[in-house]
Amino acid sequence: MTDTMQAARAATGTTASNALDRVLVLEMVRVTEAAAVAASHLIGRGDEKAADHAAVEAMREALNQLDFDGTVVIGEGERDEAPMLFIGERVGAGRDNPNAARIDIALDPLEGTTITAKAGPNALAVLAIAEQGCLLNAPDVYMDKLAIGPGYPEGTIDLGKSVTDNIRAIAAAKGVQPNEIIACVLDRPRHADLIAELRSLGCGIQLIPDGDVAGVIAVTDPDTSVDVYMGQGGAPEGVLAAAALRCVGGQFQGRLVFRNDDERARADRWGVEDLDRIYHLNDLAKGDVIFAATGVTDGSLLEGVKRRRGCVTTESVVMRASTGTVRWVRGEHRKEPGLHCD
Ligand code: FBP
Repeated sequence: MTDTMQAARAATGTTASNALDRVLVLEMVRVTEAAAVAASHLIGRGDEKAADHAAVEAMREALNQLDFDGTVVIGEGERDEAPMLFIGERVGAGRDNPNAARIDIALDPLEGTTITAKAGPNALAVLAIAEQGCLLNAPDVYMDKLAIGPGYPEGTIDLGKSVTDNIRAIAAAKGVQPNEIIACVLDRPRHADLIAELRSLGCGIQLIPDGDVAGVIAVTDPDTSVDVYMGQGGAPEGVLAAAALRCVGGQFQGRLVFRNDDERARADRWGVEDLDRIYHLNDLAKGDVIFAATGVTDGSLLEGVKRRRGCVTTESVVMRASTGTVRWVRGEHRKEPGLHCD
């Protein structure tokens, strides 16, 4: 291991030898590739459930070929509502082997089911893994999210402050006027006030139909020109996005949103005591983390699955917090042995 890697590991509070060292980073890409390719058959077919089901089955099968003992902590739902990849399900070929590496897994085999059904942009197959106990076990409720990319002073954003205060702070740190800031927001009626406040400041708004994992990650990519992600999306997707930001840098804050008694009861079951708690990156995904995603449809982060004569191509990204390495992986999958892409 190089000095740089050692320094990075010290900075992220991870040791040189941890459970993730025994999990091949590139194996994670096989898993997201399998889910993305399976879902891609259903792109634009108007059937969200079928697309999701195909991705779930493929991701589970791929996970079960890997030699670790994994527990799904963010998955397809609670045990009684999801037949596969439910929260608490053990996966991996090493799940009965006491010596296998034990890891926690946050996954979304198809992030953007509606996008896929409508052939829209930014559907992804996504996965994050960490050592046991390092990923927040988030209930399936909404989360208020606020995210900016790397390069800002720590503390630039604060979910406890108003939209206006945050935009002014981001603009000041970036050295521009508030009306030069571009925010990414899910296009939902619940965001009417947020959108009105952003408009009153003159900000640009990129309204996305779905897919806030890609929306949050967009703030880390200078090519997207999105400065900040704001608004409510799924809490599980918040953990996945936070895992990615742990690897590439940036700031993220999230607050769980409990809208009714049923959701508050869920908070209790999940051991959430402070309903107003603001979660920072390390509360959502701590220690060493590996994040992998494969594009299902074309998007700001990744190209979608493409079919050419005799071959399927995929584009994936896999990153690791302890080393800060980001790998872009282009896969060419021959449908039959011996066929070539042309
Ligand atoms: P699905 O893949 O489950 O359809 O989620 C897509 C998504 O847009 C997420 O990215 C986002 O966090 C969530 O749905 C927002 O929920 P809602 O559609 O209820 O506003």
